[in-house]
Amino acid sequence: MSAKKPFEYPGNEVNVQWDGRLCIHIGECGRAEGELFVGGRKPWCNPDLASQDEVVDVVQRCPTGALTYQFKDAQLNEQAAEQNTITVTYNGPFFFHGDLQITGAPETSRGLAFRAALCRCGHSKHKPFCDNSHEAAGFKDSGAVGEAGQALTDQGGPLQVKPTNNGPLVVTGNVTIRSGSGREAWTGTRAVLCRCGASGNKPFCDGSHARIGFNDA
Ligand code: SF4
Ligand code: FES
Repeated sequence: MSAKKPFEYPGNEVNVQWDGRLCIHIGECGRAEGELFVGGRKPWCNPDLASQDEVVDVVQRCPTGALTYQFKDAQLNEQAAEQNTITVTYNGPFFFHGDLQITGAPETSRGLAFRAALCRCGHSKHKPFCDNSHEAAGFKDSGAVGEAGQALTDQGGPLQVKPTNNGPLVVTGNVTIRSGSGREAWTGTRAVLCRCGASGNKPFCDGSHARIGFNDA
């Protein structure tokens, strides 16, 4: 991870922060149209060159929580989505989106309250967060989800995400799991998700972490 604390890009009405500890260079920000982010420019981000709607739109596309914004008018600041979702990405991490309460998340990483990419290959050096180590490790998983779970009466509310000691992620709260293809595949209020990379029942834990001696250090 490059930066030790978030970079701040001040604007007249809104500041944008970029947290290099969380960025996995997916590039959603760089591909967005407009002048908010321009690669090679200094500063890379200039909130005064975009409308407020553009700032909100582009920042909220960042799936890792690396980007956040803070308006001078606090009422305009990001609110949790009405649906909590976890996307099981193809050969990659879990993307969490919603009203997130991730155990151990640094307070300075404000975006993690809404968006996060969590390691599921077992190789990140920044666990529980993804650092793109799945690529070097050659992690392979299609993101298919076989089980359907239980029907939900509500889609949102606090979602607690607890990385257990040398074991799975325990997720508690209303949540919908999307497969790698984007299908809403599973719903329920408690999911135990593999983060060692070895489960034979991904995305769920099947106890394989004990067999392989998974160490989350
Ligand atoms: S969208 Fe987020 S994770 Fe992707 S490159 Fe931009 S800051 Fe990094
Ligand atoms: S964390 Fe991977 S099988 Fe339990």
